[in-house]
Amino acid sequence: MTLNAKHELLKRLFEANGQPVSGQEIADAFGLSRTAIWKYVKELEKEGYEIGTIRKKGYYLVTVPDRVNEANVKKYLQTNLYGSTIHYFDTCESTQFIAHKEAQSGAPDGTVIISEEQTSGKGRMSRPWASAAQKGIWMSIILRPKLTPQQAPQMTLVAAVAVTRAIQEVTGIEPSIKWPNDILVDGKKVTGILTELQADPDRIKAVILGIGMNVNQTDFPSDLETIATSLKMILGKSVNRAQLIAKILQFLEQYTKLYETEGFVPIKLLWESYSNTAGRRIRAVMLNETIEGTALGISNDGMLELKLDDGTVRGIYSADIELRK
Ligand code: BTN
Repeated sequence: MTLNAKHELLKRLFEANGQPVSGQEIADAFGLSRTAIWKYVKELEKEGYEIGTIRKKGYYLVTVPDRVNEANVKKYLQTNLYGSTIHYFDTCESTQFIAHKEAQSGAPDGTVIISEEQTSGKGRMSRPWASAAQKGIWMSIILRPKLTPQQAPQMTLVAAVAVTRAIQEVTGIEPSIKWPNDILVDGKKVTGILTELQADPDRIKAVILGIGMNVNQTDFPSDLETIATSLKMILGKSVNRAQLIAKILQFLEQYTKLYETEGFVPIKLLWESYSNTAGRRIRAVMLNETIEGTALGISNDGMLELKLDDGTVRGIYSADIELRK
């Protein structure tokens, strides 16, 4: 109930469009004292909201912080479950580490860890992931899908489809997916997805889905300049990160359910419609070998199928893919 009073206060402040909102009315509605409401105002101020007071009339909203905190994300959230629990940090080493710990202590399905900044962001294959403060979406989602451990790797493709749809809907940009999970615009990476698993041999305990999205950067360090881009650099204007997070969670919930109930085929079809890999000549760099050939598409269990020059077809589970001319 107390959390609701704070959300209600924020909601009314937003809806009032700068006009004063009565603290007394909210206090009455929630059976709280006016001091309790005043404490929520102070909490919101700590979160970066600027709130003014008019004697006898109440509180009014001056400015909203560009923060991806719980209140801002929940304003846009349209899910049944995902995002019901959000842990928000100004800074952390990696949301992935926190999510692993939370999952082990029993965090519910759909719990989200969001940070404004990561000091040790983690990419695939143990690479570092640049996570500049307040510029991107750095979040990990704890999922407990009704799937077998063998079906878990395909969750990466489910997430790639959800993220692509969310970018399309919020910004109008049409990204493409490079197998398995790089989201590209104009050939440069805007989003990476890292899927990790906590499992027994026969049972998934949790899938930890890490999503790193370049949103409002205006430049990148020189080593990333040629391979990374941001939504702002493409659109020429800032994008609302909280709205984008809410949309990702909405599509992720929808497509995870689709995968659980209908199997991988509908996800595969969606994924292929966004993919820029099928039909292309590619080089797949794996741990112990590098092979080249023409990408055919993905199999019904999410493997990339590659036709080599001698005509044989190889299924690839994990590799770095280079698109050739
Ligand atoms: C990739 O290498 O393409 C995957 C990058 C995944 C980065 C995200 S950011 C949020 C989460 N926390 C991390 O440390 N990594 C993932």
